[in-house]
Amino acid sequence: MTASSAAPQPALEDKFSFGLWTVGWQGVDVFGGAIRPPMDPAYAVRRLAELGAYGISFHDNDVFAFDADPELRETAVASLRGALDETGLGVPMVTTNLFSHPVFRDGGFTNNDRDVRRFAIRKAADNLDLAASLGARTFVAWGGREGAESGAAKDVRTALDRYAEAFNLLGQYVLDQGYDIRFAIEPKPNEPRGDILLPTVGHAIAFIHELEHPELVGVNPEVGHEEMAGLNFAHGLAQALWHGKLFHVDLNGQTGPRFDQDLRFGAGNVRGAFWTVDILESGGYDGPRHFDFKPPRTEDEDGVWASAAACMRNYLILRDKSRAFRADPAVQEALQHARVHELATPTLADGESLADLRNEPFDPDAAAARGMAFEALDQLALEHLYGVRG
Ligand code: GCO
Ligand code: MN
Ligand code: MN
Repeated sequence: MTASSAAPQPALEDKFSFGLWTVGWQGVDVFGGAIRPPMDPAYAVRRLAELGAYGISFHDNDVFAFDADPELRETAVASLRGALDETGLGVPMVTTNLFSHPVFRDGGFTNNDRDVRRFAIRKAADNLDLAASLGARTFVAWGGREGAESGAAKDVRTALDRYAEAFNLLGQYVLDQGYDIRFAIEPKPNEPRGDILLPTVGHAIAFIHELEHPELVGVNPEVGHEEMAGLNFAHGLAQALWHGKLFHVDLNGQTGPRFDQDLRFGAGNVRGAFWTVDILESGGYDGPRHFDFKPPRTEDEDGVWASAAACMRNYLILRDKSRAFRADPAVQEALQHARVHELATPTLADGESLADLRNEPFDPDAAAARGMAFEALDQLALEHLYGVRG
């Protein structure tokens, strides 16, 4: 068996999905124009199906142009539907482009210009109808342009009022229509705005609890976005799971705090990717493993498919490693030594009160003398990752 066939192949039950804007990215960046031709959505669907994906996602304007009339829009959606029917791929998630057109220069839902806010809500509601008609269950809201470069230009507290107003209106619309759709806010600290509102998973979850229908809204954390803020992505996922708010996930790669790299999943912070897969597989997340990456500008179309395939392959490689790590008797022993399971025991026993705890004899020096044995445990994880165990 060659090294390249050793990892399992993607299967439908792995729930791998891709944004059409990922493989379709033409490579336009701040310093240069397109280096790849536009990709027909139906073609992307067929190629992704061949690679082993189970679904795709898209922004409204990945499928039809911003200024498409109803007829053009219908033709474009019909072509996409044709490819979906032919391949059996689903559309678990849909999202709205509220950032590309110049009208969104100051954002959509939080634009200072009231007319633009009204237009943005209308655009999102239209897209909810399309999402429902394709059976999507998750509606991602990435507020890329909701933010500011300067201080006085954006009143953050009133911007949050307007942001909440938009989610309240759209949430009520989903309920009134009887759509089986939930919203997932995608946090990002900056880029394209200097500072973006709801910059991290924690900010977004706090915001969600101020909404009229918090049960309808969760988060769509992205690896690179949390790591741009220097945060631990796996910890963000764990907290989102703890709140019951991990509705969707954007998997990609990032190397520390810098511009949003959108590398293929598993590139960049490899150790972070290991713990990301570990928590997704063990933490009760059942949704799509959705890739939101950008095949670098160095690549031609072959490179695009190579990097898309690598996202899934890296996920499966890391899933195998995570399983081997968890099953390793040496790891189970090291977990005991590290007293990881002890954390699951409530600090007070049943029937005990704070007073019982306050009267308890305790020898801090003896407790302080007990090492935590975390290094040996972490080394086992690294050795699984480095491929010398399991
Ligand atoms: C980014 C974002 C976007 C969003 C997508 C959904 O790279 O900053 O990930 O790709 O996920 O546009 O609206
Ligand atoms: Mn990104
Ligand atoms: Mn994303």
